[in-house]
Parts: sequence; C-alpha cells; structure tokens
Amino acid sequence: MRNSPSVLMIAGSIRRPSYTRALIRAVGEVLERNGADVCEWDLVKNPLPIADPEYDGIPHEYPDDNVRLFAKMVEQANAFVLGSPVYHNSYTGVLKNALDLVGDPQFENKPVGLVAHKGVQPLDHLRIVMRSLGAPVITAQIATLRDHYTGREGDYQLNDARVLQRVELFAQELLEWVERFAVREIPVPIR
Ligand SMILES: Cc1cc2nc3c(=O)[nH]c(=O)nc-3n(C[C@H](O)[C@H](O)[C@H](O)COP(=O)(O)O)c2cc1C
Repeated sequence: MRNSPSVLMIAGSIRRPSYTRALIRAVGEVLERNGADVCEWDLVKNPLPIADPEYDGIPHEYPDDNVRLFAKMVEQANAFVLGSPVYHNSYTGVLKNALDLVGDPQFENKPVGLVAHKGVQPLDHLRIVMRSLGAPVITAQIATLRDHYTGREGDYQLNDARVLQRVELFAQELLEWVERFAVREIPVPIR
C-alpha cells in the first residue's frame, strides 16, 4: 500500500472516563507509530441517532449530519479497531447501533481488530457480526481488566507490560492484513 493506511477506531462506551476508550487510544498510539493515520469516532462528542431501517443501505441520504459524516469516514477507512466493555454478556448497544447505521459496502474486505474490557464476550459476538458485514477480523484480540490500568479516578491509562506487548502485536497484525487485502488479486477464470 503506497499511502498510509487510515484506521478508524470506535470505542463502544459513552462512560467518561472509559477503560475501553483508554484501550483503543493505546492501540491508536501504536498504530500511529507504525505509520497509520488514526482517527476516532467519539460517540459522546458525535452521538449517532437510533438506526432507522428506512435508510438501510443508503446512509449517505440520512437526514442526520453525524450519520452522513460517520458513513463517509467508515467508507474512507482502510481498517477498523472496534472496542467495547461487557454489557449483559455482550457488547454495547451504542456500538451495535453505530454498526447498524452502515453496511457491507462500507466494511467489505477491510480488516477489523477487536478489543474489549472486562470479558471476552464482546470479542466473540463482534467477530460474528463483522463476518456478516464481510469484514475480515484479525486473529489477535485484546481483553483487559481494571488492574491493567492506572489513574482509576481520572483518565485511565493502559499500564500493563504484557497487555502493552500484546497491543504491539495486535497493531502489527492489523496493518499486515491491510497490506494483504489491498493487494488481493482477482482470480483469473479457468477456461
Ligand atoms: C448496562 C450495563 C451492563 C453491564 N453488564 C456487565 C456484565 O454483564 N458483566 C460485567 O462484568 N460487567 C458489566 N457491566 C459493567 C461494565 O462492563 C464496566 O463498568 C466497564 O468497566 C465499563 O467499561 P468502560 O469504562 O469502557 O465504559 C455492565 C455495565 C452496564 C452499564
């Protein structure tokens, strides 16, 4: 890939401060260090309305400005990092709602890395959901616990040597997959 890959990150938590957000930010720093252009869709600063099936498949025609901007950013990204805390044994509704606003045309063949806080259920469930959007999910994934962070009452900071090492591998794999999917050859038909 000639240009820097652009990675869009979404933390599926509107809690402030948020462990999940601290986690995706730690991933973002490593991705940037490895040459990626990273941006974050902040669901607090740019909230998204409840997905209206009337606009399924046509997010660019949505009346809400944020949805149209979100759809554009997802479309322009080469890869994604999705994160969520465990909510009732799964990932959060705000993240599902964001995904429901877009579809296969925005995600197809773009690698996704998954991270979670407080359990692995968001990882398992998001893997299935992203499969249905045609997005390949990398094998590395990260699940953190409270003890992996410092700054409990302020803005959390991922601060566990083993998890940070895993973040490095995760970021490298995501960028390798971007390369792999960018150069994927169209098979020549056998005559
Ligand atoms: C609606 C809701 C459901 C939750 N369900 C679970 C759960 O099933 N299991 C669990 O361990 N924690 C659960 N939690 C706790 C969150 O996972 C926990 O507060 C987490 O730290 C939030 O991450 P964040 O700081 O990124 O928002 C739930 C919290 C909320 C608000």
